[in-house]
Amino acid sequence: MSKKLFIETLGCAMNSRDTEHMIAELTEKEGYETTDDFVEADLILINTCSVRERPVHKLFSELGGFNKKKKPSAKIGVCGCTASHLGEEILKRAPYVSFVLGARNVSKITEVLHKDKAVEIDINYDESEFAFNDFRSSPYKAYINISIGCDKSCTFCIVPKTRGDEISIPADLIIKEVQKVVNSGVKEVFLLGQNVNNYGRRFSAEQEKINFTQLLRRLSTIEGLERIRFTSPHPFHMDDEFIEEFASNPKICKSMHMPLQSGSTKVLKEMKRGYTREWFLNRVEKLKTMCPDVSISTDIIVAFPGESDEDFADTIDLMKQVRFNQIFSFKYSPRPETEAESFTNTVDDEVASQRLSQLQSLNNEILDELNAKSLGKVYRVYFEELNRDYFVSGRSDNNIVIKVKGSDDLLGQFRDVKITSIGRTILTGEIVA
Ligand code: SAH
Ligand code: F3S
Repeated sequence: MSKKLFIETLGCAMNSRDTEHMIAELTEKEGYETTDDFVEADLILINTCSVRERPVHKLFSELGGFNKKKKPSAKIGVCGCTASHLGEEILKRAPYVSFVLGARNVSKITEVLHKDKAVEIDINYDESEFAFNDFRSSPYKAYINISIGCDKSCTFCIVPKTRGDEISIPADLIIKEVQKVVNSGVKEVFLLGQNVNNYGRRFSAEQEKINFTQLLRRLSTIEGLERIRFTSPHPFHMDDEFIEEFASNPKICKSMHMPLQSGSTKVLKEMKRGYTREWFLNRVEKLKTMCPDVSISTDIIVAFPGESDEDFADTIDLMKQVRFNQIFSFKYSPRPETEAESFTNTVDDEVASQRLSQLQSLNNEILDELNAKSLGKVYRVYFEELNRDYFVSGRSDNNIVIKVKGSDDLLGQFRDVKITSIGRTILTGEIVA
């Protein structure tokens, strides 16, 4: 009987791809097969996120839970960003953990498995050209890494300390990977990096230097590839050439993630984001003018140290101007090894909660208004998931989640769908063509 692997994934899309890489290595080289039940697992992995504080606390209680109910012989490994930043401390606080594997050391998974109490967390380790084995959780769309690490130093963010410096993956490797998934039937790729539109700044070896816009152009010539998505672009690097390519290239999905963080230029400066409120608004205007159907999503942090009522009002005002289609909003959470950790002008937690809920209710109002306009409209949907009650769901080009009654015959297919009813996060429709 083959050994069983249970793996829990927290955090961002990059972590999801790292999980696929670990599954690939462990199934191909070590004979594991995955299970959804940790109680029967021989290896339990938790792929962690450290962007905010809460998940870190949760980690140790969760590890305790695994330890209590796991098979006596089962190993537990802690992977991902919290592994990178806590390292040895994880073994001290949870001595039953067998190994700690950082977010920048995924390719060493089969190595640490055989070393007792291994801690591999080198953030300078370069695995940008590592040839991972193949595993993909969806046959319809594929995550494709285009860079590792992050070269920015946003004062609130721990990622550069857990994922290290930014290194781009050579374009020929990316193109080969996309070609491979397209040959296997995938029609949509999702390009991943912390700053995708900073692509091409640094490679680990001498390479033909192309930028993100050029990479998009090249990828879009691949026959059989129908849709290209990416996350996250950085507002600072959204030059005209990039926006023009985005708007005019029919294979690039018309949904843009523009992580704002704050609508106040003063706060943006304290965050070291590298752009102003005016630059952000200017980019949105250019995008909307060139691409009227674009949907724009964002990330916002409320109550960053020093955020005054006026600064927060600037964020609210910007939201009203832009009318984002989706907002991921967070209370500022101080993180170790970041510059902002030492800022003393913190915002009272009650104020922070009040700001977050004001922002979220405005967002819901805007969303309801935007969604109401979709009623009766027709969208081209790429179906990728079978839901309960004979529904199948997928996304429109501009990233709206849409479901229709149907069977698995629809999976991996494109259809025109007319919207017949509206929900806040998912629309329902019927196929018209
Ligand atoms: N490079 C990615 C950012 C990854 S972190 C990007 O630009 O999208 C994802 C999001 O988490 C950030 O955009 C930010 O909104 C949020 N975040 C990061 N650090 C945080 C902190 N210390 N407190 C609260 N939210 C944070
Ligand atoms: Fe973090 Fe800023 Fe990079 S948010 S991931 S340091 S772009």
